[in-house]
Formats: sequence, structure tokens, C-alpha cells
Amino acid sequence: MTQRVALVTGAMGGLGTAICQELAKAGHKVVAAYHPEFDKPDEWKKQMADAGFNDFVCVAGDVSSFDSCAAMVAEAEAKAGPVDILVNNAGITRDKMFGRMELAQWDAVISTNLTSLFNMTKQVSGKMAERGWGRIVNISSVNGLKGQAGQTNYSAAKAGVIGFTKALAAELAAKGVTVNAITPGYVATAMVMAIKPEVLQSIIDSVPMKRLAKPEEIGGACAYLASDLAGFMTGATMNINGGLYYQ
Ligand code: CAA
Repeated sequence: MTQRVALVTGAMGGLGTAICQELAKAGHKVVAAYHPEFDKPDEWKKQMADAGFNDFVCVAGDVSSFDSCAAMVAEAEAKAGPVDILVNNAGITRDKMFGRMELAQWDAVISTNLTSLFNMTKQVSGKMAERGWGRIVNISSVNGLKGQAGQTNYSAAKAGVIGFTKALAAELAAKGVTVNAITPGYVATAMVMAIKPEVLQSIIDSVPMKRLAKPEEIGGACAYLASDLAGFMTGATMNINGGLYYQ
């Protein structure tokens, strides 16, 4: 296989870590992008090295800021080379029933989970098209498809990710660049574990497979979408949710 450079945002979270590992296992050079305020990058790097992933390139940047993304991608390219594969994975929750949601909670989720796709993809998509090869994988959510009480902000952003994916896929289809979305269900990560235990249990009970997804079950799909073999797939929304929801 051809070794490509893959940049993953939110790389040091539960899902991001699994995505980095699966892309590395597929033979790619991985750039792990993390928020500048993340307090344990060195600990994460050590954990990865202990697990046999020794050559991740790490870069810090705030995906909600265009200028920060520009600087971060420039640093990534200087260290690893042109980005061939972009995984827009960084995301946050600020769950509140709508009646109690404040504008700051709305804005934080929209800028980190949706505007980030503009900020990051702008840095790489034109150059991918010029080179005639590229993969953009956007991590949406089952809750962008079905809507989730307590998540008007998150559901709106994740639905927006799907619209962005389809529109950009149409623009880049003839240029060798694919753009796809993954809609994970509830994955065993810190984000999901932060849900109140009784609420989380009722969510698990509602999943036909009666369990959370393993992070690598999402990471593996990401590696597939990034591969040459997935070259004819674009504008797709890949549901991985244990049967929780079908479009
Ligand atoms: N549907 C309709 N109404 C609901 C509801 C539901 N599913 N859940 C709660 N409510 C109602 C309650 O009955 C209550 O009504 P009253 O005020 O009239 O009594 C009101 O909403 C407030 O409920 P709570 O007292 O439970 O409010 P809270 O502030 O303690 O909790 C919440 C609200 C934080 C949104 C909590 O319900 C919650 O965590 N829900 C789960 C949200 C969720 O699934 N988040 C996913 C996070 S992981 C992720 O996002 C990853 C991914 O992609 C899947």
C-alpha cells in the first residue's frame, strides 16, 4: 500500500485514539492533533509508545479557530508532509434541555463540532484536489440523524456535518477526493461515560445489541474510508450504532 499522511483532530480522546491507532495499523503516517489546553499530551504519547505506536507526530491547535487551524496544519505539513487524509473528529457536548440551554452552550458546540469542519478542511481540500487524491472523513453522530433530547446544539451540529459532507463530496468527486461521514452510536468513551448512570443505562437498554460500541469499531471504519479500496464511496453516511437507528 501507499503510505499516506493522516491528520486526526481530537486525537487524544477515546475515539480519536482508536482512529489514530487503526490508521497507523493500516500503514499511514499519523498526525495527532489535540487542543492546546489538553493537559496530558506527554502521558498520551507515552501510552501510545508503550502500546507500540512510536511515531505519531503531535500538533496542538483549536479547531474552533480558523487561524489556529492554519498554523496547526502548516506545522503538521512541515513535520510530516502534505496531508492526504483528514479525519474531522474533534467534538464536545454541552447537554442541556433546550429551555435551560444558554447561548454560550449552543455556540461552543456549533463552533467546535461544525465550524471546525470549515476551519480544518479549508487548509487541505484544495491541495488534495491539486494532487488528485484525498480522503476526508467527518465524524458525525447517530444523534445528528435521530435527534436527542438534551442535545439540540449537538444534534444540529452533527446533522450539519452530514450536509457539509454531501455538498463537499459533490464538489470534489471528480478530483480524486472522497468525503464521507461516520455516524457512530454510543461509544465507550469518556464523553459517553459522563452521562448520568441511570440515563446511560436506559440508552444501552434501547440499543438492540445492548452494549456500547468499542472505539476500534469506529476506528476501523475510518481506516477503510481512508483506504484506496474505498475510492468509489463518497458523500456516504456510515451508520455504526448497534442497530439503534436506521435512516
Ligand atoms: N425526552 C423528553 N424529556 C426528557 C428526556 C427525554 N429523553 N430526558 C429528560 N427529559 C425531561 C425530564 O422529564 C425533565 O422534565 P421536567 O423538568 O418537566 O421534570 C427535564 O427534561 C429535565 O430533565 P433532568 O432533570 O434529567 O435534567 P438534567 O439537567 O439533570 O439532565 C440532560 C438533562 C443532561 C440532557 C440529561 O437528560 C442527559 O444527559 N440526557 C442524555 C443526553 C445524551 O444522550 N447525550 C449524549 C452524550 S454522548 C454523545 O453525544 C456521543 C454521541 O454522539 C452519541
